[in-house]
Amino acid sequence: MQAAARGPLSTSPSATPSPTRAPWRWPGVIEAYRERMPVRPDWQVVTLGEGGTPLLPAPHLSDRVGCAVYLKVDGANPTGSFKDRGMTVAVTVALAEGAQGVLCASTGNTSASAAAYAARAGLSCAVLVPRGKIALGKLAQAVAHGAKILQIDGNFDDCLELARKTAADYPVTALVNSVNPARIAGQASAAYEICDELGRAPDLHCLPVGNAGNITAYWAGYRAYHSDGLIAELPRMFGFQAAGAAPLVHGAPVTNPETIATAIRIGAPASWAGAVTARDESGGLFAAVTDEEILTAYRLLSAREGVFVEPASAASVAGLLQVSAAGKVPAGELVVCTVTGHGLKDPDTALHAARSEGGARIDSAWSEGGARIYTAPDPVVVAADANAVASALGLA
Ligand code: F0G
Repeated sequence: MQAAARGPLSTSPSATPSPTRAPWRWPGVIEAYRERMPVRPDWQVVTLGEGGTPLLPAPHLSDRVGCAVYLKVDGANPTGSFKDRGMTVAVTVALAEGAQGVLCASTGNTSASAAAYAARAGLSCAVLVPRGKIALGKLAQAVAHGAKILQIDGNFDDCLELARKTAADYPVTALVNSVNPARIAGQASAAYEICDELGRAPDLHCLPVGNAGNITAYWAGYRAYHSDGLIAELPRMFGFQAAGAAPLVHGAPVTNPETIATAIRIGAPASWAGAVTARDESGGLFAAVTDEEILTAYRLLSAREGVFVEPASAASVAGLLQVSAAGKVPAGELVVCTVTGHGLKDPDTALHAARSEGGARIDSAWSEGGARIYTAPDPVVVAADANAVASALGLA
């Protein structure tokens, strides 16, 4: 089953592996886990080769928390976020069912992913995004893939309500938000990959939570492997929300969510019940992390682990550091933090908030929400001269 999917993909049974060339490639999550996907054998699979992302040991974080910490680097997906795992399935189903186009509400990553997979499938794509609140790289992706972009004067929750209504009124358009069960089935693949690679489930799994589809999907994935006898134990699921957008932590929707982590700037998660089930069945928790904690983890990941993520992704690591400091993580546990989106998605935050040391504290738009944010030192301008370079580097 999974082992076969990970094995060599040879063009003929007699092909001999070449010593100079990798003999196989990752086939995308539908082919890798076909028996677990709601996709019929005769359907055309719409894939960009998503999934198969690195499960990377994080030595600095491991030292900090006294555990074996791994990062599931889902920014390494084709459009730079975990959304691709679900989008391959949602768009495959939409195409098979005769949809003319796909539609979604998004804080940015879902729209980038939907736009790319729709382009691949030859379907139209429309995205509803909160005006002025999506990171530049994500908008660029939706533009590049030719999506129709509607900037709504409202937040993500307003966009989702509008998208749901539009899809219900005009069924030729398939809704590809995570309220679509195909998305959840696809995103569960990340849990399968982690278990396949570790040979077990982690003790603890940390995730950023916004609309709560991903924590719902991971839990479904772990549960499926457990009931099939592929893993003996289930992980505890820890879901972290930004302090200004933490409805699950407060137990009530938030009317005006605010956070620098725009991807999780959500006040009324659609998969609320799924997230609560994941927490309760796993003996996990929800907690809030401040924008400052998010940016500290963001900088730690890029400066110490070499992993560049977008701010929302750093919420999982910020949360781990917080609960570990509070004594809630026993030493020696096996911990996985999913980092959900690539740092290039949000170049503005990278340039304004990359460094604390040597940077100046500023009070600009970046300090919205009460976070202490620091500017990166300006790049140095140097003459095209070897001596000037050596001197600027402190070598001469
Ligand atoms: N991390 C990133 C980078 C995201 O883009 C999102 C959600 C999450 C975490 C939270 O995942 O919603 O399943 O709890 N982004 C959605 C979007 C809402 O529209 O791109 P969740």
